[in-house]
Amino acid sequence: MKTERLAPDPAGLDRAADLLRQGRLVAFPTETVYGLGADARNAEAVAAIYAAKGRPSFNPLIVHCADLDQAADLVEMTETARTLAKKFWPGPMTLVLPLRPTAGIAPLVKAGLPTLAVRVPAKEVAQELIARTGCPIAAPSANRSGRISPTRADHVLTSLNGRIDAVLDGGACDVGLESTILAPVPEGTRLLRPGGLTDEDIAAVLGQPVLPAPNASTPTAPGQLSSHYAPAGTVRLNATEPRDGETLLGFGRVEGDLTLSNRGDLIEAAARLFESLQELDRRGADKIAIAPIPDTGIGRAINDRLRRAAAPREDLSA
Ligand code: TXA
Ligand code: MG
Repeated sequence: MKTERLAPDPAGLDRAADLLRQGRLVAFPTETVYGLGADARNAEAVAAIYAAKGRPSFNPLIVHCADLDQAADLVEMTETARTLAKKFWPGPMTLVLPLRPTAGIAPLVKAGLPTLAVRVPAKEVAQELIARTGCPIAAPSANRSGRISPTRADHVLTSLNGRIDAVLDGGACDVGLESTILAPVPEGTRLLRPGGLTDEDIAAVLGQPVLPAPNASTPTAPGQLSSHYAPAGTVRLNATEPRDGETLLGFGRVEGDLTLSNRGDLIEAAARLFESLQELDRRGADKIAIAPIPDTGIGRAINDRLRRAAAPREDLSA
């Protein structure tokens, strides 16, 4: 694949928007860092983001919206969330809120979580791109896994040239630091990731201090277990055929009761992973067997998730 470098003019923006609507990957600048964008409603496009970044696991992605109204179509806005949004959007703040079932966001975007991260970026090029595309854009930072976040188109190309369809070159990012991630919850507002906003700015708007992120030493509340979404049934991995009473999730030549990809395509398998696990629950499968998935490319992230799904349930918070 040749990566196009697009100018931030009407022709470049139209091209970028067309590519995104076709399910392709386009890196674009925000005021914080460059994001690697895909149509958040298109599961295969989202899977391609993880493949291009080469992450060994699925991390939930931030969905970029045109404005508060578009964000409110996707998530349940609490009063606190609205107050924060009115103050800091457009800008370097991300809100983690419960996803609306009607939002039409590909399950892979939130990697099995019940919540979705949304933000309205301030940079004009980003605003124009989202407006032209007409869809919510899922975008992690536009770097290969383990590299630093890019603040120029050249940085994006250094790590992703040939792995994505285009980069929209909007010059340098002003903030250079990722967005602050906040989760308004009933107890207050948690700071999930420090970023472009200061704690004091946020506290001034909330009228109270921000709460720290829950960490590994805090006992895990039952709701948080769903962060490692596992189906209700027991899970056996690397199964080439079902044993008595098992429902088989297939891949490639291993035909199942349902399949992640009957053509053995890892991108398609990643795109279908979370909805397949949910489908097994809907079918009431209490013994689940899952076909072997090659441990290469995005297959590593799929296997990471499947190992968590198969782990003894006490280990789910690990
Ligand atoms: O400034 C930014 O936020 C940039 C630009 C491109 O918008 N994006 C960015 O994305 O930094 P990324 O993927 O590199 O980091 C997203 C962070 C991850 O740490 C992820 O775990 C967290 O957001 N996140 C996303 N959805 C979440 C959710 N539902 N609950 C908790 N954390 C979430
Ligand atoms: Mg990142």
